[in-house]
Order: sequence, then structure tokens, then C-alpha cells
Amino acid sequence: MSGFDAKWLTLREPADQAARSPVLLDKAAAFFAARAAAEGPVAVLDVGCGTGSTYRALNPHLPARSLWRLLDHDPALLEEAARQIGTENIDFFTRDLGIVEALPDDGVSLVTASAFFDLASADFIDRFVARLAERRIALYAALNYDGKVTWARPHPLDQRVLADFNRHQLTDKGLGPALGPEAVPHLSAALLAHGYRVETAETPWRIGTAEADLHIAFLRGMVDPVLEVGTLPAEVIGEWLAFRLAYVRGERGGCAVGHLDLLALPPG
Ligand SMILES: C[S@@+](CC[C@H](N)C(=O)[O-])C[C@H]1O[C@@H](n2cnc3c(N)ncnc32)[C@H](O)[C@@H]1O
Repeated sequence: MSGFDAKWLTLREPADQAARSPVLLDKAAAFFAARAAAEGPVAVLDVGCGTGSTYRALNPHLPARSLWRLLDHDPALLEEAARQIGTENIDFFTRDLGIVEALPDDGVSLVTASAFFDLASADFIDRFVARLAERRIALYAALNYDGKVTWARPHPLDQRVLADFNRHQLTDKGLGPALGPEAVPHLSAALLAHGYRVETAETPWRIGTAEADLHIAFLRGMVDPVLEVGTLPAEVIGEWLAFRLAYVRGERGGCAVGHLDLLALPPG
């Protein structure tokens, strides 16, 4: 079990798909198609694949019958991915990414990820990028949380609550102390140091009343991390949450949750 349940991933997927940068997605697809044309069968490796959100977003833009490898350490999510997208041209790997040397990256031209790198530590990112650079593999990493959340209807405690939530993002999620909102700047710097061409795009969720269920799940999901950080009393957090929940389906009930997409193409 990874702590990410399939229901949460299903709830967030439409907002993720709407937020993804079409420009970076198209450039990732064009890079892959050019490599496939030049080198024959090459594969995409999606790390931390969950139930296959990146596959669903990117595969329609790739040459027909492109080869995929989907990797996650949670067998239940991989099983759900296979149920949702089938198994044709896809290999599934139940692996912990911490062991970078065990990445199934032979014949891989493009590594993809979504909503993953904010969980990773600086040490993991450095080792991961070194591995990609050694093999001249491109990276398309979408929807990394950037720490910026704004609500259309402000509450005086928003930024206090958010600061504690963002502090909690820095705790260890299994790959060392996580970089949370600092993941993309670190990833970019590491890739640039290896000669990659790096582009990023702001890709916030724009949550309105139509996405109220996602908004409610996001708000409720903030509570335990903020309680764990412990600088705000539980009743104060409870009052803030009650205010927020009261408006999610009403006028000015929306919010924006910041994310960054990144595309890095290898030198040469
Ligand atoms: C926020 S979910 C994103 C899932 C999917 N990419 C999406 O966008 O819906 C993060 C995923 O990373 C996986 N993950 C986290 N740490 C991992 C690790 N050390 N090794 C392999 N997978 C990991 C989780 O199991 C989960 O599926």
C-alpha cells in the first residue's frame, strides 16, 4: 500500500488532465516519435504510475502501438491500471524507485511521471537524473505541487494553514526527506547541470463548483498534515475547515492549487 488510494487518483484525474500543459505534452510526444522513427522500437517508462493517468494523457499523442512500462511500488494500483487500460504493449513493474539501479530503462527514450517528484528527496532526484543522463533519456514530469494555493474567498488563516501544510510536504514519503514545492527547481537545476534543455509551465488546478468533490477531498486531506505539524490548535483548524467547506458549492467558492510541469530533453 502506498497511501494513495485509487479513489483519490480518480477524483483528481480530470483536474490534472485539464491542467497539464498541452505545449509540453506535445513536445514530449514529438521527441518520443522522433526517437522511435530514428531508432526503431523504443519505450516510455512511467514512474509512480498509480492507475495510469499519464498513460491516458500521453498515449493518444504517440505513434500507434507505442511500448509502455508502468512502474509503481503499490501492486493494488498497478492491478487497477491494468484493469482500466488493458495490457496491450504495456509491461507492469512492481518496484520501489529508491533502487535507481533497478530502473527497467533498457531501450527507454522517455521517462514520464505525474504528481510524483514533490514526494522525492534531493538525493533521490540527483541519483535519478544522473541515471537518465547516462542513458540520454528525456523526462516529462507533470503536475508537481508547487506550494501555492489561493481561494477566491479569503480567510485570515489561509496562509498559516497552507504554510503548515507545505511544511508537512517536506517529510519523508519513502524516498528521503521530500522536497515538496522545491522539487521542480531542484530537478531543473540537476537536469541543466547534465546539459538537458529544460522547460517548465505553471499548470494549476482551477477548482470551481463543478469540482467541489475534489475541493472537499483536498481540504479534508490538509487537516491531518496540519494537525501533525502542530502549530495551530485543532479547534482553530476545525473552524477554518468549516468556513472553507461552507462555501465550496457557492459563489466565489473556488480555489487554485499550483502545480508545475517540466520537460527536459537530453543534449545532442
Ligand atoms: C500522487 S500518486 C500519482 C499517481 C499517478 N502518476 C497519477 O498522476 O495519478 C504518486 C504515486 O507514486 C507512487 N510511489 C510513491 N513512492 C514510490 C516509490 N518509492 N516507488 C515506486 N512508486 C512510488 C505511489 O504508489 C503513487 O502511485
